[in-house]
Amino acid sequence: MEKTQNMLSDLASDVLQGLTAKPKRLSSRFFYDRQGDRLFQQIMELPEYYLTRLEFEILLTRKSDIGQLFLNSHQAFDLVDLGAGDAKKTKVLLRELLDRDAAMRYVPVDISTNSITALVENLKVEFPRLEVAPQIGTYHQVLDRLKTSPAARRIFLLLGSNIGNLTHDHAIQLLSSIKDAMGVGDLLFAGFDQKKDPEMILAAYNDSQGITEQFNKNLLLRINRELGATFDLDTFKHWPTYDPETGTVKSFLVSQKQQVVSIPSLKVEIPFRKWESIHMEISQKYDPPLIKRLAEASGLIVKTAIGDPKGWFKNYIFSKEDS
Ligand code: AVJ
Repeated sequence: MEKTQNMLSDLASDVLQGLTAKPKRLSSRFFYDRQGDRLFQQIMELPEYYLTRLEFEILLTRKSDIGQLFLNSHQAFDLVDLGAGDAKKTKVLLRELLDRDAAMRYVPVDISTNSITALVENLKVEFPRLEVAPQIGTYHQVLDRLKTSPAARRIFLLLGSNIGNLTHDHAIQLLSSIKDAMGVGDLLFAGFDQKKDPEMILAAYNDSQGITEQFNKNLLLRINRELGATFDLDTFKHWPTYDPETGTVKSFLVSQKQQVVSIPSLKVEIPFRKWESIHMEISQKYDPPLIKRLAEASGLIVKTAIGDPKGWFKNYIFSKEDS
């Protein structure tokens, strides 16, 4: 993600609010600076982090069914990829849809200008026939733009269980804005990591190489660098938890000693009691009743779901309720 003036003041105000709140919190949406992007790439390769591999497998083994669902009406459409990143998983679908001669435009959406530029260059080489119409911005900004632009048929992608970083209220807000940018017959194809053995879930956020710990602590490093703060990373302990009742992974950094962290650019000193925590991230796990509840609250209908053989990860297809 690129460092812009906007992001900076966004980060500053979030840090000020979050670290003066009780209990303390920071926001995982600031994890993805250059180093954060790199660490997340490493996470996706970890033996414990099963999410990316499972979804990739689902797309690969079921691409023909998915292609058929997408091309149902033979009309031209825009494939809007929310949070495209390097589009590694989307490329499986692009290949399948182009093989079927889909009249399709690819609309990758990302907040990072760098990653969109790199993706567009890469697609020119890998998919020379593909028409690409990138959108840079937050999901919110881009969906707002699309809502008011003339309605081509649209298929939205929301892969990777990225929705899991959102509380249910915020997930409903996002799904509702997607619905508002949908016409009758349009689709949303979204990945949801499912509830499963708590041990397997917890391990995915507590890897033995400590990459996820670095990924969380990298936000403290970013705050040191961009806001001049004095966080000593070694004094904080990475502590992910999983509650099988709510399905929520909650990650904390816990101060192992009493200390004061100064943030000169915000003119604040942040005191920590020994063992006081900062809540860093949630990664929600889902089950079918929960998905149904979120869909109903957002005005979406579950058309079908496809998962891996064990049901550990599922991709759902939603349409808009006809009004
Ligand atoms: C990108 C939100 C899907 O929550 O699983 C990975 C981010 N955090 N390891 C997730 C993440 C810690 C990831 N998502």
